[in-house]
Amino acid sequence: MKKIVILTGAGISAESGLGTFRAEGGLWAEHRIEDVATPEGFARDPRLVVDFYNARRAQAAEAAPNAAHLALAKLEEAFDGEVVLVTQNVDDLHEKAGMKRVMHMHGALNGALCGACDHRWPAPMVMAPGDTCPGCEAPAARPDIVWFGEMPYDMEEIYDHLAQADLFAGIGTSGNVYPAAGFVAEARRSGARTLEFNLEPSAVGSQFDNIRIGPATQTVPAWVAEILGS
Ligand code: OAD
Repeated sequence: MKKIVILTGAGISAESGLGTFRAEGGLWAEHRIEDVATPEGFARDPRLVVDFYNARRAQAAEAAPNAAHLALAKLEEAFDGEVVLVTQNVDDLHEKAGMKRVMHMHGALNGALCGACDHRWPAPMVMAPGDTCPGCEAPAARPDIVWFGEMPYDMEEIYDHLAQADLFAGIGTSGNVYPAAGFVAEARRSGARTLEFNLEPSAVGSQFDNIRIGPATQTVPAWVAEILGS
Protein backbone atom coordinates (compact mmCIF):
# COMPACT_ATOMS: atom_id res chain seq x y z
CA MET A 1 0.00 0.00 0.00
CA LYS A 2 1.54 3.28 -1.14
CA LYS A 3 -1.09 5.96 -0.92
CA ILE A 4 -3.80 6.65 1.64
CA VAL A 5 -6.32 9.42 1.00
CA ILE A 6 -8.34 10.52 4.03
CA LEU A 7 -11.44 12.73 4.11
CA THR A 8 -12.45 14.15 7.47
CA GLY A 9 -15.64 15.91 8.55
CA ALA A 10 -17.09 17.56 11.62
CA GLY A 11 -17.30 14.24 13.50
CA ILE A 12 -13.53 14.11 14.01
CA SER A 13 -13.64 17.43 15.89
CA ALA A 14 -16.78 16.61 17.90
CA GLU A 15 -14.81 15.12 20.79
CA SER A 16 -12.71 18.30 20.88
CA GLY A 17 -15.91 20.14 21.78
CA LEU A 18 -16.75 21.59 18.36
CA GLY A 19 -20.37 20.95 17.38
CA THR A 20 -21.22 19.07 14.20
CA PHE A 21 -23.70 20.41 11.66
CA ARG A 22 -26.44 17.83 11.30
CA ALA A 23 -26.67 16.34 14.79
CA GLU A 24 -29.76 17.12 16.88
CA GLY A 25 -28.99 20.55 18.31
CA GLY A 26 -26.12 20.91 15.80
CA LEU A 27 -25.16 24.10 14.00
CA TRP A 28 -27.76 23.66 11.27
CA ALA A 29 -30.52 23.24 13.84
CA GLU A 30 -29.69 26.64 15.32
CA HIS A 31 -28.82 28.56 12.15
CA ARG A 32 -30.30 28.40 8.67
CA ILE A 33 -27.78 27.40 6.00
CA GLU A 34 -29.31 30.00 3.66
CA ASP A 35 -28.60 32.74 6.22
CA VAL A 36 -25.02 32.00 7.26
CA ALA A 37 -23.49 29.73 4.63
CA THR A 38 -24.42 31.16 1.23
CA PRO A 39 -23.19 34.18 -0.76
CA GLU A 40 -26.81 35.40 -0.83
CA GLY A 41 -27.03 35.29 2.96
CA PHE A 42 -23.82 37.30 3.22
CA ALA A 43 -25.12 39.90 0.74
CA ARG A 44 -28.37 40.22 2.75
CA ASP A 45 -26.86 40.44 6.22
CA PRO A 46 -23.06 40.56 6.36
CA ARG A 47 -23.04 41.34 10.09
CA LEU A 48 -24.94 38.13 10.93
CA VAL A 49 -22.60 36.03 8.80
CA VAL A 50 -19.35 37.63 10.01
CA ASP A 51 -20.50 37.28 13.64
CA PHE A 52 -21.39 33.60 13.09
CA TYR A 53 -17.85 32.86 11.87
CA ASN A 54 -16.28 35.13 14.53
CA ALA A 55 -17.99 32.97 17.15
CA ARG A 56 -16.83 29.78 15.53
CA ARG A 57 -13.26 31.13 15.15
CA ALA A 58 -13.18 31.98 18.86
CA GLN A 59 -14.48 28.52 19.75
CA ALA A 60 -11.98 26.76 17.46
CA ALA A 61 -9.11 28.81 18.92
CA GLU A 62 -9.95 27.37 22.35
CA ALA A 63 -10.21 23.78 21.13
CA ALA A 64 -7.44 21.21 21.36
CA PRO A 65 -6.82 18.35 18.95
CA ASN A 66 -8.00 14.95 20.15
CA ALA A 67 -6.58 11.44 19.86
CA ALA A 68 -7.95 11.02 16.33
CA HIS A 69 -6.25 14.18 15.01
CA LEU A 70 -3.02 13.16 16.76
CA ALA A 71 -3.15 9.63 15.33
CA LEU A 72 -3.52 10.97 11.76
CA ALA A 73 -0.51 13.26 12.28
CA LYS A 74 1.47 10.26 13.46
CA LEU A 75 0.33 8.31 10.39
CA GLU A 76 1.52 11.12 8.12
CA GLU A 77 4.88 11.15 9.83
CA ALA A 78 5.51 7.41 10.10
CA PHE A 79 3.71 5.78 7.16
CA ASP A 80 6.04 4.32 4.58
CA GLY A 81 4.16 5.91 1.70
CA GLU A 82 2.01 8.98 1.09
CA VAL A 83 -0.83 10.23 3.28
CA VAL A 84 -3.12 12.85 1.76
CA LEU A 85 -5.53 14.54 4.14
CA VAL A 86 -8.54 16.38 2.77
CA THR A 87 -10.78 18.00 5.34
CA GLN A 88 -14.18 19.62 5.09
CA ASN A 89 -13.50 21.18 8.47
CA VAL A 90 -12.76 24.86 8.80
CA ASP A 91 -11.06 24.46 12.19
CA ASP A 92 -7.29 24.02 12.43
CA LEU A 93 -7.18 20.99 14.73
CA HIS A 94 -5.32 18.84 12.19
CA GLU A 95 -2.58 21.48 12.03
CA LYS A 96 -2.56 21.85 15.82
CA ALA A 97 -2.02 18.07 16.01
CA GLY A 98 1.09 18.48 13.87
CA MET A 99 -0.25 17.40 10.49
CA LYS A 100 1.91 19.05 7.83
CA ARG A 101 -0.19 18.77 4.70
CA VAL A 102 -3.90 19.57 5.05
CA MET A 103 -6.21 20.43 2.18
CA HIS A 104 -9.10 22.57 3.45
CA MET A 105 -11.61 22.02 0.68
CA HIS A 106 -14.27 24.13 2.46
CA GLY A 107 -11.88 26.93 3.47
CA ALA A 108 -10.61 27.87 6.92
CA LEU A 109 -11.76 30.03 9.84
CA ASN A 110 -8.27 31.51 10.18
CA GLY A 111 -8.39 32.83 6.63
CA ALA A 112 -9.88 35.99 5.11
CA LEU A 113 -10.79 36.37 1.45
CA CYS A 114 -11.42 39.47 -0.65
CA GLY A 115 -14.78 39.29 -2.40
CA ALA A 116 -13.49 41.80 -4.97
CA CYS A 117 -10.05 40.49 -5.99
CA ASP A 118 -9.85 36.97 -4.42
CA HIS A 119 -6.77 37.89 -2.37
CA ARG A 120 -6.42 35.69 0.75
CA TRP A 121 -4.71 36.60 4.04
CA PRO A 122 -4.74 35.49 7.70
CA ALA A 123 -8.03 36.53 9.32
CA PRO A 124 -8.00 38.65 12.46
CA MET A 125 -9.67 36.99 15.45
CA VAL A 126 -12.66 39.32 15.01
CA MET A 127 -13.67 40.31 11.49
CA ALA A 128 -16.12 43.14 10.74
CA PRO A 129 -18.29 43.73 7.69
CA GLY A 130 -16.57 46.13 5.34
CA ASP A 131 -13.02 45.28 6.50
CA THR A 132 -10.66 46.31 3.71
CA CYS A 133 -8.57 43.97 1.62
CA PRO A 134 -4.81 44.48 2.15
CA GLY A 135 -4.35 43.75 -1.57
CA CYS A 136 -6.83 45.97 -3.46
CA GLU A 137 -8.18 48.00 -0.50
CA ALA A 138 -11.80 47.27 -1.41
CA PRO A 139 -14.06 47.06 1.67
CA ALA A 140 -14.87 43.49 0.66
CA ALA A 141 -13.26 41.16 3.22
CA ARG A 142 -15.17 38.00 4.07
CA PRO A 143 -14.35 34.78 5.92
CA ASP A 144 -12.43 32.37 3.69
CA ILE A 145 -15.19 29.78 3.89
CA VAL A 146 -16.58 27.95 0.88
CA TRP A 147 -20.32 28.55 1.03
CA PHE A 148 -23.08 26.52 -0.56
CA GLY A 149 -23.18 27.31 -4.26
CA GLU A 150 -19.42 28.03 -4.37
CA MET A 151 -16.67 25.79 -5.74
CA PRO A 152 -14.67 23.91 -3.09
CA TYR A 153 -10.90 24.40 -3.14
CA ASP A 154 -8.27 22.10 -4.66
CA MET A 155 -10.74 19.87 -6.50
CA GLU A 156 -8.46 18.98 -9.40
CA GLU A 157 -5.64 17.96 -7.10
CA ILE A 158 -8.02 15.99 -4.87
CA TYR A 159 -9.41 13.99 -7.81
CA ASP A 160 -5.85 13.26 -8.96
CA HIS A 161 -5.07 11.87 -5.51
CA LEU A 162 -8.28 9.81 -5.44
CA ALA A 163 -7.38 8.30 -8.81
CA GLN A 164 -4.09 7.04 -7.35
CA ALA A 165 -5.33 6.00 -3.90
CA ASP A 166 -4.78 2.46 -2.62
CA LEU A 167 -6.96 3.15 0.41
CA PHE A 168 -9.61 5.81 0.97
CA ALA A 169 -10.86 6.54 4.49
CA GLY A 170 -13.83 8.76 5.36
CA ILE A 171 -13.86 9.88 9.00
CA GLY A 172 -16.74 11.63 10.81
CA THR A 173 -18.62 12.92 7.82
CA SER A 174 -22.33 12.42 7.16
CA GLY A 175 -22.05 12.01 3.39
CA ASN A 176 -24.68 14.66 2.71
CA VAL A 177 -22.61 17.34 1.01
CA TYR A 178 -21.19 16.93 -2.50
CA PRO A 179 -18.65 16.82 -4.01
CA ALA A 180 -16.99 15.36 -0.86
CA ALA A 181 -19.75 12.73 -0.48
CA GLY A 182 -18.81 11.45 -3.95
CA PHE A 183 -15.14 10.80 -3.10
CA VAL A 184 -15.79 7.23 -1.95
CA ALA A 185 -17.32 6.33 -5.34
CA GLU A 186 -14.47 8.04 -7.15
CA ALA A 187 -11.85 6.16 -5.11
CA ARG A 188 -13.64 2.84 -5.68
CA ARG A 189 -13.68 3.43 -9.42
CA SER A 190 -9.91 3.78 -9.25
CA GLY A 191 -9.62 0.47 -7.41
CA ALA A 192 -9.00 1.76 -3.89
CA ARG A 193 -10.17 -0.09 -0.80
CA THR A 194 -12.54 2.07 1.20
CA LEU A 195 -13.13 2.38 4.92
CA GLU A 196 -15.58 4.54 6.86
CA PHE A 197 -15.30 5.70 10.50
CA ASN A 198 -18.50 7.00 12.08
CA LEU A 199 -20.89 6.57 14.97
CA GLU A 200 -23.37 5.15 12.45
CA PRO A 201 -23.23 4.42 8.72
CA SER A 202 -23.28 7.71 6.79
CA ALA A 203 -25.60 8.52 3.87
CA VAL A 204 -23.00 6.93 1.56
CA GLY A 205 -22.01 4.21 4.05
CA SER A 206 -23.17 1.40 1.77
CA GLN A 207 -20.50 2.40 -0.75
CA PHE A 208 -17.63 1.62 1.63
CA ASP A 209 -16.03 -1.83 1.80
CA ASN A 210 -15.93 -1.64 5.59
CA ILE A 211 -17.27 0.53 8.38
CA ARG A 212 -15.78 0.96 11.83
CA ILE A 213 -18.48 2.14 14.17
CA GLY A 214 -17.49 4.12 17.27
CA PRO A 215 -16.05 7.43 18.44
CA ALA A 216 -13.18 8.60 16.25
CA THR A 217 -10.88 9.02 19.28
CA GLN A 218 -11.01 5.24 19.70
CA THR A 219 -11.39 3.83 16.19
CA VAL A 220 -8.86 6.05 14.42
CA PRO A 221 -5.88 5.51 16.77
CA ALA A 222 -6.56 1.74 16.67
CA TRP A 223 -6.55 1.79 12.86
CA VAL A 224 -3.36 3.87 12.70
CA ALA A 225 -1.64 1.45 15.09
CA GLU A 226 -2.64 -1.45 12.79
CA ILE A 227 -1.23 0.27 9.73
CA LEU A 228 2.00 1.23 11.43
CA GLY A 229 2.26 -2.29 12.79
CA SER A 230 2.66 -1.31 16.40
P1 OAD B 1 -22.13 16.58 9.64
O1 OAD B 1 -22.54 17.35 10.88
O2 OAD B 1 -23.06 16.55 8.50
O3 OAD B 1 -21.80 15.07 10.03
C1 OAD B 1 -20.96 14.73 11.09
C2 OAD B 1 -20.79 13.22 11.09
O4 OAD B 1 -19.87 12.86 12.10
C3 OAD B 1 -22.09 12.43 11.34
O5 OAD B 1 -22.21 11.42 10.37
C4 OAD B 1 -21.88 11.87 12.75
O6 OAD B 1 -22.50 10.58 12.90
C5 OAD B 1 -20.37 11.74 12.80
N1 OAD B 1 -19.82 11.83 14.17
C6 OAD B 1 -20.21 12.62 15.20
N2 OAD B 1 -19.44 12.47 16.27
C7 OAD B 1 -18.51 11.53 15.94
C8 OAD B 1 -17.40 10.91 16.63
N3 OAD B 1 -17.10 11.25 17.88
N4 OAD B 1 -16.67 9.99 15.97
C9 OAD B 1 -16.97 9.65 14.69
N5 OAD B 1 -17.98 10.20 13.98
C10 OAD B 1 -18.74 11.12 14.60
O7 OAD B 1 -20.69 17.17 9.21
P2 OAD B 1 -19.92 17.05 7.82
O8 OAD B 1 -20.20 15.72 7.18
O9 OAD B 1 -18.51 17.42 8.08
O10 OAD B 1 -19.95 22.73 4.90
O11 OAD B 1 -20.61 18.18 7.00
C11 OAD B 1 -20.17 18.45 5.69
C12 OAD B 1 -20.29 19.91 5.37
O12 OAD B 1 -21.63 20.34 5.62
C13 OAD B 1 -19.45 20.83 6.23
O13 OAD B 1 -18.13 20.96 5.77
C14 OAD B 1 -20.18 22.12 6.17
C15 OAD B 1 -21.59 21.61 6.33
O14 OAD B 1 -22.61 22.36 5.82
C16 OAD B 1 -20.00 24.06 4.76
O15 OAD B 1 -20.26 24.82 5.67
C17 OAD B 1 -19.70 24.52 3.38
